[in-house]
This record gives sequence, structure tokens and C-alpha cells, in this order.
Amino acid sequence: MPFGTITITDKAKRLIAEILASSRISNGKYVREFEQRFASLFNVAHAVAVSSGGDAVALALSVLYDQEIDRGLGYEIIVPALSFVATGNAVLQAGFTPVFVDIERETLNINPSLIEDVITARTAAVLPVHLIGKSADMEAIACLANKYDVAVIEDAAEAYGMGYKERHFAELSHMATFSTYIAHAVSTGEGGVVATNNQCYAEILRSLRSHGRACICESCMLNTQEGAYCQKRFAQGSDKRFVSERIGFSSKMNELEAAIGLGSLDEYSEIMAQRYRNLAYLKDEFRKRFGSYFCIIKQSSDEVIGPHAFPFILKEDVGFTRTQLMQYLEQNSIETRTLFASMPTQCAGFEFLGYELGDFPEAEYVGENGIHVGVHQDLTMEHLDYFIEVMKKFLEEHIR
Ligand SMILES: Cc1ncc(COP(=O)(O)O)c(C=O)c1O
Repeated sequence: MPFGTITITDKAKRLIAEILASSRISNGKYVREFEQRFASLFNVAHAVAVSSGGDAVALALSVLYDQEIDRGLGYEIIVPALSFVATGNAVLQAGFTPVFVDIERETLNINPSLIEDVITARTAAVLPVHLIGKSADMEAIACLANKYDVAVIEDAAEAYGMGYKERHFAELSHMATFSTYIAHAVSTGEGGVVATNNQCYAEILRSLRSHGRACICESCMLNTQEGAYCQKRFAQGSDKRFVSERIGFSSKMNELEAAIGLGSLDEYSEIMAQRYRNLAYLKDEFRKRFGSYFCIIKQSSDEVIGPHAFPFILKEDVGFTRTQLMQYLEQNSIETRTLFASMPTQCAGFEFLGYELGDFPEAEYVGENGIHVGVHQDLTMEHLDYFIEVMKKFLEEHIR
């Protein structure tokens, strides 16, 4: 039972052949089409495609440097302690200091009641993560952000298909970022997207993904028309195409990736239907059969959890360890992932920030006891039943 999959449709294969034959591979008309369709699918005004979900977070944060946030002054971003490490890496890569906050075990998300205590004059933004498709409490976060006039950027890498009170991504935030890596419901192989309703942010993002260039018009930025000439290029004397306005990244999506992405957007409803079905089935089975051993995340009546994966957490003193269980599952061909880690206290790269083990008890508990398995579109009922059978056998052998 593999953790992730990628859908590469026949149409995507035809587009890829056409792109290869044309030799026009870098960021061009298919990237533009992918962005437009992504934006309309998620009801946002603008989608900007980049190289990865991690870059999407770093670029979104970097937009803040155009918004009265001074790069040299040590601004901070408030982040949940528990996430895939890309979230914390991106904060540092964008030149900010992460300020970590513990999570709630039953939601896996930042604990909103702990945020206000760490907001200071140096706070530039709050960066909630909708971990494994469970919505962070955006209303509480937006309310605090308004009160203290700080930005909100959602890390929605794992949130395709998530619904909360009919709200859209980037409705209660300045920008929402996505990953289109292979295990995700919308996939380009490698890639990411920043979604926003603010045109000015979208323009800055287009500049940021291309080294901070000044001119973001189609003929300078996109490989769409052969021989296209930008009228503004020499209007102010020097060549505007090579004027750098801000510290940028090299983070463009290419046409081959966009072609794969267009195929996955074509099949989005079918992909999601399979994923919702798989997630609901595993949740029900776990609740019925294994409820004494594992916690599964809380779902309220006004939300839909995005079907990214199925997470479960060992309860205290269950009589077996996570390693024993993961090893058993892997030996029986079921791919598993830990449920990430407390970035500041369980990931060596963050040690220099000076946090200590014990600072984030909930994140650390999940970091030691959480597991997630796939619910993707290529998993059949046979796969899921096999997984449940293997779980049953494990418990029979380990619980006396
Ligand atoms: C919460 C979260 N943020 C960011 C990322 C980074 O995405 P990518 O692997 O495309 O860089 C991921 C990856 O899946 C993720 O799970």
C-alpha cells in the first residue's frame, strides 16, 4: 500500500510530447493556463506557480518585504511547532525568525489561545498550517492578526479538498500556499502555488520567482510568444528586463510540470472523490475497531477535512511503540510516515534557535507517537481492507 501517487493523464502526455517537440520548455503558456485554472478551481483571483511548496511559503513571506517590513530589522513569523519541516525552513530561507507555538493534539494545528502571548512589535505574520487537511482556526487567527495588524499566510500544502464554513483559501488571509509534489491531490511532479486575491502581491510574487526582476510583463517573464518585445524594456534608459528590484529566488515552474498539473486539474473531482471515500473508510474502521489505542483528529459538523492522508496517534501507555507498529506495517508492504516532528525541539537544524525539549509538549508527543498513511486515488478497497487486517494482526500479537 504505497503512501503517494501521481496521476499523469493521456492529455498531459500529449501536451508533454508537444512541448518537447517545440523546445519551449521554460515557464510559458501552459504554466499560465495551469495558474488560471488553479485560481478558478479554488475561487481566488490569482495563482502564481513556483518550483515547490516550500518555495511557495518562502516567496509568500518575502512579499512582506514590499509591505513596510524591513529586511534588516529581525522580523518574526509565528509558526506551529508541528509541521513538515519545509514550513520552518521556508521562514528561515525568507530571512525571518520563526517563533514557534505549540499545537492542539486533537487538531494537529497551532493552538490559537497561545498566539497572542508571542505577538510583539517584531511580528510580521502568523503562518498557520492546515496539517493533513485539518483547517487551522482561521477566524481566531484572522481576528488576532487584525487586532495587531500583522499578516496571515496559510500553508495549505496538505489542504486540497478542505472546507470550513464555506470559506475559500486566502479569504481570511493575505496568501495561501500549496505544494504540487507527487503525493498531493493536485500534482505537477514537483512544484507549488501561491494563491492570493491581491493583484499587487501576485505581481511581486511573479518578480520574486524570477530573481526579483523589475519587469513582470508577459514578454519579459513568460516564454509565450516567439520574438515578443517588451515596449517598456528600454524606456528608462537601461534594460528593465535585467533590473533587479528586490532579493528574489529562482523558482519558476516549467511547461512539462504544468502539463502534468493540467491533467491533474482535469481529474480533480474524480481524484477527490476517491480520496474522500478512502479517508472516511479508514476513519470509521479505526474508530470502530482501534479506538482504545489511537486518537484520530477531531472533525466538527461545519468542516470537511481535506483528504491528504490518514493520521493517527498512539494513546498513552498502549503497550507497544510507534517504531514497532511502523516496522510491522512496512514489513507488510504498507508505507508509513511519522506525523512530522516538533521543528524547534526535534529537528537538529533548528537547535541554534535555543528552544529546549519540553517547550512544546503536544507537538513533541505527536512527533513521537503520530503516524500517517496514504488515502490517495490509486488505493482500492482491497488495499484499505488489507491495511485494517494487518493492524488487527499487529494488535493481536502485541496486546496481551
Ligand atoms: C505542510 C507542508 N508545507 C510545505 C511543504 C513543502 O512542499 P514541497 O515538498 O513541494 O516543497 C509540504 C510538503 O508536502 C508540507 O506538507
